[in-house]
Amino acid sequence: MAKIIGGLGTSHIPAIGGAIHRGAQQEPYWKPFFDGFPPIREWLGKAQPDVVVMFYNDHGLNFFLDKMPTFAVGAAALYHNADEGWGIPTLPPFKGELDLSWHIINHLVENEFDVTTCQEMLVDHACTLPLKLFWPEGDCPVTVVPVCINTVQFPLPHARRVYALGRAVGEAVAAWDSSKKVAFIASGGLSHQLEGERAGFINKEFDLQFLQSLESNPEWATQYSIHELVEKTGTQGIELLAWLAMRAALSAGEGSGVRKVHSNYHIPISNTATGLLALEKF
Ligand code: DHB
Ligand code: FE
Repeated sequence: MAKIIGGLGTSHIPAIGGAIHRGAQQEPYWKPFFDGFPPIREWLGKAQPDVVVMFYNDHGLNFFLDKMPTFAVGAAALYHNADEGWGIPTLPPFKGELDLSWHIINHLVENEFDVTTCQEMLVDHACTLPLKLFWPEGDCPVTVVPVCINTVQFPLPHARRVYALGRAVGEAVAAWDSSKKVAFIASGGLSHQLEGERAGFINKEFDLQFLQSLESNPEWATQYSIHELVEKTGTQGIELLAWLAMRAALSAGEGSGVRKVHSNYHIPISNTATGLLALEKF
């Protein structure tokens, strides 16, 4: 059976792509953000995952407001990145893991999650930036199964439902007949709001409590409704749903514990309170 090694979470601000392109990682503005990554890359170098399941949200590249699945799973051999209007360079296509994609889709539908299946799927900055941040050198060494959660167009799925989805994805991975090692990634958040009267809104106290809960009380955030979470974290802070799914996925399979490898929290990059976390499963 496949082995679940752990979970990673990171923010995915488009400007990060520009900073990587310019080689600006050591500039004073960017250093506190990029300095969070080397300890996690070191752990990944030892743990050597073969596949990542990426929980993220599309921002209008693959799904627009006219057609918005609540949950969508990629089942493509290759995932192409395209210009979505932020002016960041596009990355080469990422390799899929078809066998795992269909295994997850079958397991989810069997367990009453009526997901949208995408045999073609463009991936935006939310999917590509975490891969570039965790594996900055050369070609991406892992294959990918993208799991897209709607955080953009109301109504959004309840945190409890997202947690259940994550757990079901974890169960599917744990039961996958493969010798491969799998990691989960959560992309998005933490608190931020890009538009309206509260543009620039950040809630450090909530973010730190949320990060801590992922270690010690993973279902903590499921007590809140979507509207409460938007109130506490901002209209885009609700991207933290991906982190809940990632943490829930770690509760499946052998072993029940997680150990923190490393975390970082830095305010702001662009409009966002950036979070970074690596959890090892044991
Ligand atoms: C920003 C943050 C996001 O999550 C995003 O998708 C786009 C922009 C920002 O802070 O600039
Ligand atoms: Fe975003």
